[in-house]
Formats: sequence, C-alpha cells, structure tokens
Amino acid sequence: MTLLELDSISVHYGRIQAIRDMSFSVEEGEIVSLIGANGAGKTTTMKTISGLLNPSSGAIRFLGQDITKMKAHIRVVHGISQAPEGRGIFPGMTVLENLDMGAFGRKDRSGMGADMERVFDLFPRLKERQKQLGGTMSGGEQQMLAIGRALMSNPKLLLLDEPSMGLAPQFIRQIFRIVTEINRQGTTVLLVEQNANQALARADRAFVLETGEITHSGTGKELLANPAIKEAYLGVG
Ligand SMILES: Nc1ncnc2c1ncn2[C@@H]1O[C@H](COP(=O)(O)OP(=O)(O)OP(=O)(O)O)[C@@H](O)[C@H]1O
Ligand SMILES: [Mg+2]
Repeated sequence: MTLLELDSISVHYGRIQAIRDMSFSVEEGEIVSLIGANGAGKTTTMKTISGLLNPSSGAIRFLGQDITKMKAHIRVVHGISQAPEGRGIFPGMTVLENLDMGAFGRKDRSGMGADMERVFDLFPRLKERQKQLGGTMSGGEQQMLAIGRALMSNPKLLLLDEPSMGLAPQFIRQIFRIVTEINRQGTTVLLVEQNANQALARADRAFVLETGEITHSGTGKELLANPAIKEAYLGVG
C-alpha cells in the first residue's frame, strides 16, 4: 500500500526554485533513501513532507488523503514524524523531557509508555541518561535523542534528515543498524543521507536528487552498482 505520494511538487524560497516538479512515492514498510550533494534540495523535500514548508505547486498524499495544505502538527497526528537535520533537540530540557515533547498532544498513556520502552530498548544510553540535559549529551547521543523523540509520536512514516552527520564511524554504523531495526519493527523510513554507501545498502529503493530534480531511481542495490552514481556519490570511479 502506498503510504506517501509526492505528485509534481515544486518548492520556492522567494524567487529561487529549490524543488522542481518532483514526484515519488513511498510504500508501507519500505526504507527509501534520498541522496544528493549539498544544496540538492534534500532538506527542503523533507520539510515539505513534514509541513514546515509549503509547495508552490503539486500535491502530497498520505494514505491516499491529500495533506498538501495540512499543518505540520496535524501531520504528526496522522503519522508523519521528522528527526530534523542538525538534531534540533531542546538543550535546556532533560532527555526524558525531550522524549515527552515528542509525545506532545497524545493522550493514550499506555501507548506512550510502550513507545518510551521501545525508545529505551533501541537506545539504552537514553535510558541511562534520562535526567541529563539534552544540550550536554554528546553529538551521537543527541542524534539518538532526536530519533527517539521522533518515535514518541508512534509515526507510520519516520523522516530522518542526515542521521549520521558529524558522527564517528562506530556511531554511524550503530545509527544505521538502529534505523534498520526501527523499520523491521514496522515503521516506514524516508532517509536523507550524505553517507550514500550506507544509505543505499540499507534502502529498499532510493532516489538521487540533483539541483531539485530526481535524476536516478531504483533499488538500493541497483544504484550502488550504477557506475555514474559510484563516481559521483560513492567516492570510487
Ligand atoms: N530558507 C532559505 N532561503 C533561501 N534559500 C534556501 C533556504 N533554505 C534552503 N535554500 C536553498 O535551497 C537549496 C536546497 O537546500 P536544501 O537545504 O534543501 O539542500 P540539502 O540537499 O538538504 O543540502 P545539504 O546536504 O547541504 O543539507 C539550496 O540552494 C539552498 O541554498
Ligand atoms: Mg540538508
């Protein structure tokens, strides 16, 4: 079943067009990766899906419903949750308070408790550090907190914008393993990454974005094997 559908989406910042007539879909249960160079429009795409930016034309559908004009916080209720680029946690709040913010507006106490347990199982470090201020957590820990917070709304679709950015290799491997585990538990994932190798290896399908347009698409394996993509994004000729 199709979870998310972008239909001829264009996004402008003033006169600058950042996304050009973009169409793609995400099926329920998939990991879909979006790769591309700096400034290609990856974050813009994610913010348009989460509702932080409005497209200038085109439509977005979620589970068949047109959500193009829906406010961001209502999209969260419908099941779209974003862990933003640069982490965006609340530095003056504890780990526990940050996680509670991710469940903002929820009233199903038992479901929230279960999701907190899920987050602590995925990230034991967050359980150990519940009372520590978010801003004093290490970079990798803050990334875990950002993903954990996004999971606290029990999303159908998790949007991850560069979860591996700035992390040491062992943290990068761990984050990608956890992303795969989150997906295995039933959450559909749309992943934006500079780390193209891992992002393609973990993806069911992937898209390459160049200056606001999709230039390649295929399974993760197909794109990993594509010589043009190898040369441009995987650091091998
Ligand atoms: N608030 C803004 N005002 C004007 N232009 C913007 C704004 N935000 C982004 N842009 C421009 O839109 C284009 C796409 O930016 P975007 O942040 O989506 O790229 P990205 O693929 O996420 O890049 P990166 O890999 O560096 O995070 C860039 O040319 C950028 O300069
Ligand atoms: Mg970005």
